[in-house]
Amino acid sequence: MTLDIEFKTAVALALLGKEFSSKRLLELSGREKPRGQHHMKYTPTDLRSIRYRLAGLGPEEQQKAIAKNKQLPALIVTRMTKGGVGKTSLSVNTAAALAMAGFRTLLIDADPQRSASILLKIRINSEALHIGKLLTRTNNVRDSDLPEALHHIISDGMFDFLPAHISMAESDQSLATAMGSYLRVELFLERNQEFLAKHYDAIVVDTAPGTTPISLAFTYAAHVPGNILTVVEPDGYSIEALESLASNLNEIEMVSRKRVGTRIVINKYHPTLKHVAESMGYLYSNYQSQLIESIIPQTTGFSRQFSTEDESKTLPLVIKDPSSIGASAVFSLVNQLIPIFGITLPGLQK
Ligand SMILES: Nc1ncnc2c1ncn2[C@@H]1O[C@H](COP(=O)(O)OP(=O)(O)OP(=O)(O)O)[C@@H](O)[C@H]1O
Ligand SMILES: [Mg+2]
Repeated sequence: MTLDIEFKTAVALALLGKEFSSKRLLELSGREKPRGQHHMKYTPTDLRSIRYRLAGLGPEEQQKAIAKNKQLPALIVTRMTKGGVGKTSLSVNTAAALAMAGFRTLLIDADPQRSASILLKIRINSEALHIGKLLTRTNNVRDSDLPEALHHIISDGMFDFLPAHISMAESDQSLATAMGSYLRVELFLERNQEFLAKHYDAIVVDTAPGTTPISLAFTYAAHVPGNILTVVEPDGYSIEALESLASNLNEIEMVSRKRVGTRIVINKYHPTLKHVAESMGYLYSNYQSQLIESIIPQTTGFSRQFSTEDESKTLPLVIKDPSSIGASAVFSLVNQLIPIFGITLPGLQK
């Protein structure tokens, strides 16, 4: 099901990271408040137009820039060797928030556990195309079946999704013995560059914990933006896992001579827990240059995303409750990810 979403002025401003008056925002949108509606509501497409208008580009110039664009979308690969830290929660909500903020976003579920697919209520059968099948292909021609594999989550092409299937674990097994399997994501992006450049401004990837061939190939592809996005919980186990992740990245550099750095987001922060305070101290003294300023608090919003009684109520937090504490933390995270990962719109500067 494709969603038509609208949000209020305060949410639009948080997504833009600006402090305009509501009057100024309305002017920038180029729209008028619908008759009989008390408060203006904005759509992801409005925010896209506002971004263009702020940069002084009119509708015609936008169309030209989009038609001319050949650049691959910005790539955010969420990665952590430890399980349960919040990779899926943050990648799905980051992707949805980027879309709400006006960037056409593709989310790829690269985890056979398919947690992102469950959160987006997309179920596919074993015959359907998923990223595992795409990565095991060895031909160098565009994947002409890719568009049919994509699910439209938000209308106007603002948020598309490539779901996972449990049988994707078999792709991992076959890649384990394949030649150059770490290059497969880069090859997939290159052969589909024209299609991806035309439809998306950003690609977000949710990977499996541990070190699987698929997650390794996505980690390698992150040498282009220069960084992966790592999620840590402020606790000892998570910090230990940061070290195993670093050795993973060193190995990639040794084999490929490409450096992949990491930007770290702290998730499930809780100010009153003693071990949290200690771990925060350790993270700030040892990983300061990699830490992202925005911190995601521990909040029940993330577990409330799933509704066991009524599946139609299962939705990413930023869509379900954009005024919640968790959603506003994600909006501020997204505003920091935009420059770090070079996210932009065709025709605009990074
Ligand atoms: N900021 C948060 N506050 C409270 N709960 C959270 C937060 N972030 C994630 N969670 C909860 O933690 C659990 C694990 O989250 P999630 O599935 O996103 O982690 P993951 O790293 O993707 O796990 P896996 O390694 O299994 O893929 C979920 O129950 C989720 O609701
Ligand atoms: Mg996950």
